[in-house]
Amino acid sequence: MRGWRKAPYTFLRGAGRVLELAGRASIYLAIGTLRLADLRTAIAHSWDELGPGDDDVSSLMPWEQRLYARFLKTADRILLVGSGAGRDLVGLLKLGYRVEGLDVASRAVAHSRHMLDKERLTAELHTGAIEAVELPGSFDAFIFSWCCYSYIPQLATRVGVLRKVKAQLNPGGRILISYIPAERPPRLLANRLTRFAGHITRSDWRSEPGDVVVASGDWRGIHYEHRFSPSDFENEAGAAGLRVVFHERGEVGAAVLIV
Ligand SMILES: C[S@@+](CC[C@H](N)C(=O)[O-])C[C@H]1O[C@@H](n2cnc3c(N)ncnc32)[C@H](O)[C@@H]1O
Repeated sequence: MRGWRKAPYTFLRGAGRVLELAGRASIYLAIGTLRLADLRTAIAHSWDELGPGDDDVSSLMPWEQRLYARFLKTADRILLVGSGAGRDLVGLLKLGYRVEGLDVASRAVAHSRHMLDKERLTAELHTGAIEAVELPGSFDAFIFSWCCYSYIPQLATRVGVLRKVKAQLNPGGRILISYIPAERPPRLLANRLTRFAGHITRSDWRSEPGDVVVASGDWRGIHYEHRFSPSDFENEAGAAGLRVVFHERGEVGAAVLIV
């Protein structure tokens, strides 16, 4: 390409990059203007929209098999939080565990009912967000299924959830949690923009370090997750008065907490 022809290309390419960054920044700002109730609606909607997919395969992943074999007893009464379309619920029932399911996404719960029928299995299923539902009694073990804990926005709410399940834990009970490990480098600018918009519009939540929020389509297309460093996770457990007795730091963070 001749030298004079490169100039408009370089200019327009640069302008495109600036517009792209401005577009991304305005999405982070837009997310910050949402109310917490809208964010929660979007989270439930995103899981409902995801549909069953591979959840039709009712088997436990190797890290789940190892964790459950080590920390669950067949006599335990277990609540699987984030039981979704039934993958791990069916997997646990097939191994003989006494499990009940809870999920915020009603279509996923309906699908898990269908999965149970197909497998000729039975389990109590509850619909609602763990932070909002009245827990159906006390349990020997709570499992936060496949990173479900990472989908609860706001540190104070997550600590409140841990305190809530702790209060319903039978003596000798355990809380099994998996989480999404922190990314490097963290998205500091995205967090700051979202927090700034929340502050200006007096929204009732603030983006926190570790939050990753991705938007596609309208506001209900938002995907939220919170990513943890191992020490962030242990601090949250400690804030709820729980002790970490096992902590595996793999592609999925997995931990067991006790009172
Ligand atoms: C990664 S999926 C796991 C689904 C299924 N248990 C599996 O492992 O295939 C996470 C699930 O957590 C549920 N979830 C997210 N936030 C929740 C909350 N606050 N309370 C209850 N369930 C929640 C979602 O609806 C979704 O079904």
